Amino acid sequence: MKNEYIPYKAVISSIQKESFDTNTYKVVFDDEKIGNSFDYKQGQFAEISLLGIGEAPISITSTPSRKGFLEFSIRAAGNLTDKIHELKVGDSLFVRGPYGNSFPYDEIKGKNLYFIAGGIGLPPLRSLINMVMDNRKDFGHVKILYGAKTPDEVCFKGELAEWKKVPDSEVWITVDKPCDGWGCSVGVVTELWKETEVHSENAVAFVCGPPIMIKFVLMELEKSGFKDRDIVMTLERYMKCGVGKCGHCNIGEKFVCIDGPVFTRHEVKAMPRQENVF
Ligand SMILES: Cc1cc2nc3c(=O)[nH]c(=O)nc-3n(C[C@H](O)[C@H](O)[C@H](O)COP(=O)(O)OP(=O)(O)OC[C@H]3O[C@@H](n4cnc5c(N)ncnc54)[C@H](O)[C@@H]3O)c2cc1C
Ligand code: FES
Repeated sequence: MKNEYIPYKAVISSIQKESFDTNTYKVVFDDEKIGNSFDYKQGQFAEISLLGIGEAPISITSTPSRKGFLEFSIRAAGNLTDKIHELKVGDSLFVRGPYGNSFPYDEIKGKNLYFIAGGIGLPPLRSLINMVMDNRKDFGHVKILYGAKTPDEVCFKGELAEWKKVPDSEVWITVDKPCDGWGCSVGVVTELWKETEVHSENAVAFVCGPPIMIKFVLMELEKSGFKDRDIVMTLERYMKCGVGKCGHCNIGEKFVCIDGPVFTRHEVKAMPRQENVF
């Protein structure tokens, strides 16, 4: 029986290079019983660790309905994640969780959905996007707006192309700096508002990315008529325990690790103003 406070060993079964500093790791729990009892929801995260190195919160980018494995897209950003990037297929890491709340799912059935991501903001959304794509008839029109710094930094290139082929679904990609052969848009993600229509009617927008990108996307969504309760985003804070005990991640009365990381704009507006909070 799985205990969510204990890190369990998981073996890397594949590594997909997404960009120069980000890989997606598919892992399978060493103990099959643990794997079978690791139930998670779209938008949750896990604490990933290496013995003697450290631990960090990482979003689960795989989709709950696709069983038997977990996937994590990890950017080499420091002590732990640099070491994870040295691992190979067959090596192990440790996983505890799942933690945090989740993206709404039943509540958004029948709605038109906008997924707006910047850089490594796509991995947390991917969990929900694939759930929507697996149950496509339950939802209205789907539009994915994605911005990366360069074409090399576009994550999930293969999947973006697949999502584009799904009926009643659109994918728009833009990069800050183009290179030879780039056939999509150029400019920050809000530039896509000039190329495609964004309508708030019967719609929910999911926004994930760096704080500066979220800030400008929120301004555009407001202009497009989105109400605060129909804008869903994730907040990142410096986390330690992930279970509401250490007090590292709180914003006012809210603990991002247990009350979040998913919040509506309405909820974020009720928080005390701090750096990185909109
Ligand atoms: C809910 C959640 C989900 C996340 N999901 C993902 C994900 O899917 N993929 C992903 O790649 N990352 C994700 N992150 C971010 C990831 O947890 C952090 O980047 C983590 O710090 C990496 O750990 P590390 O030990 O490799 O890096 P660290 O050694 O902690 O360094 C990370 C950065 O913080 C700086 N830093 C370290 N210590 C300090 C300090 N004391 N003061 C100031 N700056 C400092 C470093 O210089 C570096 O730039 C997520 C974070 C949260 C909260
Ligand atoms: S990370 Fe410890 S309380 Fe949230």
